[in-house]
Amino acid sequence: MATILITGGHSGLGVYCSRLLASKHQCNLILAGRSPEKMQDFSQALENDYEVKVHLLKMDTSSFASVRAGVSECKKMLKSGEIESLNGIICNAGVRLNGQVTYTDDGYETTYATNYLGHVLLVELLIDLVSKKGRIVFTSSGTHDPDTADGKMMGVADKATAVDLANTGKNGEKPINLGKMYATSKLDIIQYAYELNRRLKKANIPITIIAFDPGATPGTGFLRNMPPLVAWLANTSFMNWVMKQMGITKSTADFSGASLAKITVEPAYDTASGKYFQANNSQLIERPSSKLSYDEKRAAKLWKDTQKLIHIKPSETILNF
Ligand SMILES: NC(=O)c1ccc[n+]([C@@H]2O[C@H](COP(=O)([O-])OP(=O)(O)OC[C@H]3O[C@@H](n4cnc5c(N)ncnc54)[C@H](OP(=O)(O)O)[C@@H]3O)[C@@H](O)[C@H]2O)c1
Repeated sequence: MATILITGGHSGLGVYCSRLLASKHQCNLILAGRSPEKMQDFSQALENDYEVKVHLLKMDTSSFASVRAGVSECKKMLKSGEIESLNGIICNAGVRLNGQVTYTDDGYETTYATNYLGHVLLVELLIDLVSKKGRIVFTSSGTHDPDTADGKMMGVADKATAVDLANTGKNGEKPINLGKMYATSKLDIIQYAYELNRRLKKANIPITIIAFDPGATPGTGFLRNMPPLVAWLANTSFMNWVMKQMGITKSTADFSGASLAKITVEPAYDTASGKYFQANNSQLIERPSSKLSYDEKRAAKLWKDTQKLIHIKPSETILNF
């Protein structure tokens, strides 16, 4: 039986993804999240309803120490046979913050650390244990693409380097707006995914790498940090109608969650490495991501900068080429 690790798999669209992985695809799960207590009831329900094994992993993706501790725990479970194999990783957790810029214990802007840096560290520390023909899927967002209505809605993704993004607002500079930070963290995760795919192909490592945009999905906790009126309005059917008219990519948490499960395990996506999929209006489609996301020069710099920012040693990852 395959085992899939998912961050943020216990809430929002992650719930629908985890449930589908357990029910339809008969996968065991590793739910990685900041609070095991919060994941407990959901995990129990999955085990009772679908006869799968669900492991809980304490992991805060905004903290390198926490990601490292979670990875160690996961490695122990694999070594002891508690988990037979690791067949996929879904980097799904994410935040859209609001208000003043904040920094993590590692000293980096919180959105960028949570959505991008922490997930890269997770992947790089665990990738050697992902089974042959396994998959790594990154939940991104249409907001990364400034040439679309989604990309104009939240703040246009910034072209700054990873080092500048992680350190925005330091030394008396004006910080990048947090909507922009969100969109840029999602641009960088796609660009990292493409670079990872190129490097794995070159090294003949058969792991499939996919980037995914769930579309604007009302009803999840995504807008919890926004002013209550904005969060409320975004969930009304009127606003949904307005967003559709504006050309915003729209979906539902259950369709997007099921789509995320599908691209992670269905054989039809074996050959989809290096591609970007979007859930839009009840359809899962492969489409191009932003122009900048295909810039290989920026990708190479992003890769190099990221390795330094996450303080990973060459001996800790097979991705040291
Ligand atoms: N909803 C949308 O309209 C939309 C559109 C495009 C892309 N997305 C992306 O889709 C993904 C899922 O979002 P959602 O809509 O399901 O939102 P959500 O309901 O807020 O779920 C986000 C998940 O991320 C987890 N998380 C947040 N910060 C974390 C941290 N520091 N460490 C570990 N886990 C953390 C949350 O866990 P806690 O329970 O601990 O908070 C939660 O499980 C995100 O990457 C989001 O950016 C969403």
